[in-house]
Amino acid sequence: QPAGPLSGKRFVITAGPTREPIDPVRYISNHSSGKMGYAIARAAVAAGAEVTLVSGPVTLPAPEGVKVRSVVTAEDMLQASQQAVSEGCDVFIATAAVADYRPQTCAGDKIKKTNDEMSLSLVRNPDTLATIAARPDAPFTVGFAAETTDVARYAMDKMQRKKLQMIVANDVSTPGLGFNSDQNAVTVFWPNGQESIGPDSKQNIATRLVALIEEHSKKADK
Ligand code: PMT
Repeated sequence: QPAGPLSGKRFVITAGPTREPIDPVRYISNHSSGKMGYAIARAAVAAGAEVTLVSGPVTLPAPEGVKVRSVVTAEDMLQASQQAVSEGCDVFIATAAVADYRPQTCAGDKIKKTNDEMSLSLVRNPDTLATIAARPDAPFTVGFAAETTDVARYAMDKMQRKKLQMIVANDVSTPGLGFNSDQNAVTVFWPNGQESIGPDSKQNIATRLVALIEEHSKKADK
């Protein structure tokens, strides 16, 4: 572990998509590659932090020096995050693109074609970020907000509603930025300020974001 400004601090970071099974061969998911969350994990390790990544199914290698806990569904992500936070956590960052809904039941066998139309009943998934932020021992909690319209307004609203210390608004309407690319552009909000970062590589954005988290979580300690 390199020594750095975050030496002794424990980070838990969620990354990637979740998969919600429909039957043994099908699932609901999204285009998250995990690149943003993995870049944040690397930046935090480089600054000296001890990092646990709670990762949905991605094709990225585990970053050096990072403990990876692999999960599949939103329910798994909540359970693994709660466990990792209970083991000790100063900063929690939710980068994952979690499915908001899952099929009410997962069919035991492959669903066959029958009628021309079929419908699927979906139920709400638990919200990992809101659950961690509501813990009595909540760490400094940072959320992401992927939006296509009114990015700043929705992000600020999410920060207040979910009781976060910081939120990273990610406009995912620009082609080539956001989901599954190497580049991103974000605006970071905290209760009385904001900073736009990028367009830049996800790694450079992660480095600046980790520096902002270091600065603001230090203030929160006092
Ligand atoms: O993985 P990449 O390809 O690199 O792409 C990065 C990204 C675009 C996925 C990432 O930068 C990003 O914006 N992640 C958040 C995506 C998202 O789904 O946001 P949201 O607005 O639905 O969720 C808001 C916040 O709540 C997020 O921090 C999310 O992790 C969290 N959440 C949401 C639902 C849920 N059930 N549990 C959660 O923890």
